[in-house]
Amino acid sequence: MPLKLDAKYLKEFVTAREYRAILPQLNAAHAALHQRTGEGNDFLGWLQLPQQVDGEELRRVKAAAQKICANSQVLIVVGIGGSYLGARAAIELLCSPNYNLLPHPGRPQIFFAGNSLNATALNEILDLCEGRDVSVNMISKSGTTTEPGIAFRLLREYLVERYGDQGARERIYCTTDAAKGKLRELALQEGYETFVIPDDVGGRYSVLTPVGLLPMACAGIDIDQVLQGARDAMEAYMSPDLLENDCYHYAVLRNLLARKGKCIELLVSYEPAFTMMGEWFKQLFGESEGKDGKGIFPATATFSTDLHSMGQFIQQGSRNLFETVVNIRQPQRDRMIPREEGDFDGLNFLSGQPLSQVNSQAMLGTILAHTQGDVPNIVLNVDKMDAYEYGWMVYFFEKACAISGYLLGVNPFDQPGVEQYKQNMFALLGKPGYEQQRQALQNQLQLM
Ligand code: PA5
Repeated sequence: MPLKLDAKYLKEFVTAREYRAILPQLNAAHAALHQRTGEGNDFLGWLQLPQQVDGEELRRVKAAAQKICANSQVLIVVGIGGSYLGARAAIELLCSPNYNLLPHPGRPQIFFAGNSLNATALNEILDLCEGRDVSVNMISKSGTTTEPGIAFRLLREYLVERYGDQGARERIYCTTDAAKGKLRELALQEGYETFVIPDDVGGRYSVLTPVGLLPMACAGIDIDQVLQGARDAMEAYMSPDLLENDCYHYAVLRNLLARKGKCIELLVSYEPAFTMMGEWFKQLFGESEGKDGKGIFPATATFSTDLHSMGQFIQQGSRNLFETVVNIRQPQRDRMIPREEGDFDGLNFLSGQPLSQVNSQAMLGTILAHTQGDVPNIVLNVDKMDAYEYGWMVYFFEKACAISGYLLGVNPFDQPGVEQYKQNMFALLGKPGYEQQRQALQNQLQLM
């Protein structure tokens, strides 16, 4: 197994009786998921997705990536939430967080737009496009999300100005719902190439559809291997037996720890390249579990960097944290520590050792210290991180999240709370039909 859960640091925190007591609930969650009888069961397309990839769609994704690589030095991926985090995480983790600064002959730089309402960020991307050919991949399941919608408006205008109507058409790719939605209508009307987000796959579960696969393919990531990893994980995590299923074991541990007041999960990695994967994880678990007054708050940290900012709190602050450490054993690259005459910094005792060895000892020391400080640590060991392991890990977290949500008693596949800010924003911006709400908000603001 490319990913192995190590629970040895949890002996003080979780008892055999607690494991036994949760088994009936785990079995019920497993049955609800696989028999499709649980809440949100119309959004379970991700469960079999790796096995049901549409071969023709995949071929078109690869062909589009080839075309983009051939005619563009820049690809702008427009999307927010589940419509961009997975692809960005893959590119940073498997290529580099500095992907855009490194030479990639025959591959475009990839910028992400439409994930905020910040004009500076968008203007900066357009500045970076100067003198280079550009393609745009607009990703939105609903087609009506404000942030990517505004960015796409501006980028379409930009492309039409630069390349004319027909030229722009050749450079726009839309990833959206199969049949419904405004983006689908526009794409049909304008003749843009389109890719499908299946109806029964929600945004945060969509990275293994063209949502993630097209940008990944443009960055040179082997998307067949990504899908193979997910497929193998799907097979591996079929059994409801806790001893055989690390994915369920992880979901169970999160639940047991939360019952003891450990209601914040810090997903920790010792790889700076994992940072965006942490953002993807936060969205997956945050939107899936945080509802009905419940949920484990998902947070992330990169160590040892954040030990110098958050280390104090983690060791001795409020005792409501647990950590999940993703331990990628082999870094993509390593470096020996040199010996220095005079040993002015006292670090000669490390000379001749690879930096990865120092990193892994820092990890062990930290796990022991935090565990002693009443912060339970779950460890997920991964030997290396390639496309295959990425696909595997995505499926691991997706399924763990679904089971975790069912154990918690929430619908892990909806996000009703996200609407509230949108309604207020539309009312304040004067969207037709929101007049009453606008007046009420303005009154509320005056009283503050
Ligand atoms: O997980 C989700 O459903 C959300 O994060 C969406 O992905 C996000 O809001 C973007 O939605 P859309 O793809 O419809 O633009």
